[in-house]
Amino acid sequence: MNLYGKHLICTQDWSLEELDAALELAMRMKKHRYSERYADVLRYRTFFMFFYNPSVRTRQSFEAAATELGGHAQFLEPKSMRLKTATTAGETVEDAARVMSRYAAGIGIRMLEDKVTRYGEGDELLREYAKWATVPIVSMAHDRFHPCQGLADMMGIKEHLGENVKRKKILITWGHGALARSLCSVQEAMLISSRYGMDVTVAHPEGYDLDPEVMDWTKKNCEENGAKFELTHDAHAGYDGAHVVYSRNWMSPKAYRDGVLQKQEEIDKALKLTDWICDGERMAKTENALFTHPMPIDRGREVTDEVASGPRSIIYDVAENRLHVQKAVMALTMGQL
Ligand code: CP
Repeated sequence: MNLYGKHLICTQDWSLEELDAALELAMRMKKHRYSERYADVLRYRTFFMFFYNPSVRTRQSFEAAATELGGHAQFLEPKSMRLKTATTAGETVEDAARVMSRYAAGIGIRMLEDKVTRYGEGDELLREYAKWATVPIVSMAHDRFHPCQGLADMMGIKEHLGENVKRKKILITWGHGALARSLCSVQEAMLISSRYGMDVTVAHPEGYDLDPEVMDWTKKNCEENGAKFELTHDAHAGYDGAHVVYSRNWMSPKAYRDGVLQKQEEIDKALKLTDWICDGERMAKTENALFTHPMPIDRGREVTDEVASGPRSIIYDVAENRLHVQKAVMALTMGQL
């Protein structure tokens, strides 16, 4: 299998064998973190990181990943480069992508909910970059997907539940909060867990529907694996029998009006739904489930401290795994192994 030059915009775009290759290499890289065998994989190569939005994990982990592979990750703020965005005029995507491809071994892009005028626009922009770039485009989280987070989630789940996670149940539940999150992490978690044959239960209040196409892909992934897919609008349902609980806030489909994200309105609406919280009482109904979250966490709203910092929480393992999966993705798609 040759992944050299392949874009990563959503895990659903990669075959299971390709995802396996990335996860297996990430596991090896975690085990042999500072081994000489990976020290020159990106030697002399630069990974450009276009951050339209801020980040803690993504920027630090990509920079560390490039360093550990002997390369360099260069932080770029597109707003200071006269690049075209979803909301402003500037250099075309074609020109930017083709020129940047002459310098970099790969290009990462982060474009979240407040940098687009409607849901899906960020995904379109990344795919436009992918059309013109001659090096891999990697989503560093955009309005629709967050593939590196999905890979890190799956790596953490496999580390704790074992390699075969088929028919293990994951509950992906909405949580109230003051941050009005994009759908990208949650949708990626649905896709990758169903690709690996997990039973998927999605729980959210009425009015917080996820992308219908992503729902269909998830159901199809489940069907193909003989796994169950369930949807509930009950904040307490779904915990029974769960092996993994993933709680996260996300915005409603009404978040955009007249091309503008109504962020405060979304926050005000979400904060009223206080019953939507992952707490110890609900976790007690599970099969001693792992708790995970892509972070940053809105503690006390999406999840209690007791659960987030409890013995079954794998949030820091998953956060660490961002480094290892990104090293693996860069090595496979833009490095010399
Ligand atoms: N999970 C994640 O992408 O975190 P950051 O927004 O801090 O990068």
